[in-house]
Amino acid sequence: MIKIAPSILAADFAKLGEEVLEVEKAGADWIHVDVMDGHFVPNISFGAVVLNAIKPLTKLPMDVHLMIENPDLYIEEFAKAGADYITVHVEACPHLHRTIQLIRSFGVKPGVVLNPHTPVETIQHILEDIDLVLFMTVNPGFGGQKFIQSVVPKVKQLADIIKEKGLSIDIEIDGGINEETIVPCAQAGATVFVAGSAIYSKNDRTQALQAIKKAGEE
Ligand code: DX5
Ligand code: ZN
Repeated sequence: MIKIAPSILAADFAKLGEEVLEVEKAGADWIHVDVMDGHFVPNISFGAVVLNAIKPLTKLPMDVHLMIENPDLYIEEFAKAGADYITVHVEACPHLHRTIQLIRSFGVKPGVVLNPHTPVETIQHILEDIDLVLFMTVNPGFGGQKFIQSVVPKVKQLADIIKEKGLSIDIEIDGGINEETIVPCAQAGATVFVAGSAIYSKNDRTQALQAIKKAGEE
């Protein structure tokens, strides 16, 4: 089963609550929350206060993607604001096991994110400790960028390892996902898909979301 996680980064922040409810009604499975610090990535988005504001509006799991340096300093704040998943970049975590343990200590499901050029081998020794791997298919920092095709073989590589080891880890894809780009990723074994502009730029969010989901399930 394919899960769709609309990214609120592409929503209209002036009416964020309505934008969350609208994608929930459209059939979203998770809400993707993109946190950017202007250091790890060249853009600033928002912090835990925004998560805190939208959490009570929906029962959907909050999937918090931290594109920040020193994530350990902010994990407690995001956990308390209602994160169900927190993913951290392997490129930003020199002490990755410590960070993952910290996330879990707050009862939040931990995941690791890989930039497009970061090899799967960088997370081979942490797979037993995580619930989620997020593959970036754009360089993080902005919505609406073009999907990087060369990530797809990495997805297949990890899906094979997960199967071989009998692990239960979700594979999520983030960046440039639409009705076309979801297809090779789903075929390679990914099950959770972030979509920002492909949903929020459309007037009919239900039609947009369901078309992406259907393409991934075929
Ligand atoms: C990129 C963010 C993505 C982004 C996706 O740095 O992590 O989640 O919002 O947006 P689209 O789907 O427009 O590429
Ligand atoms: Zn993201």
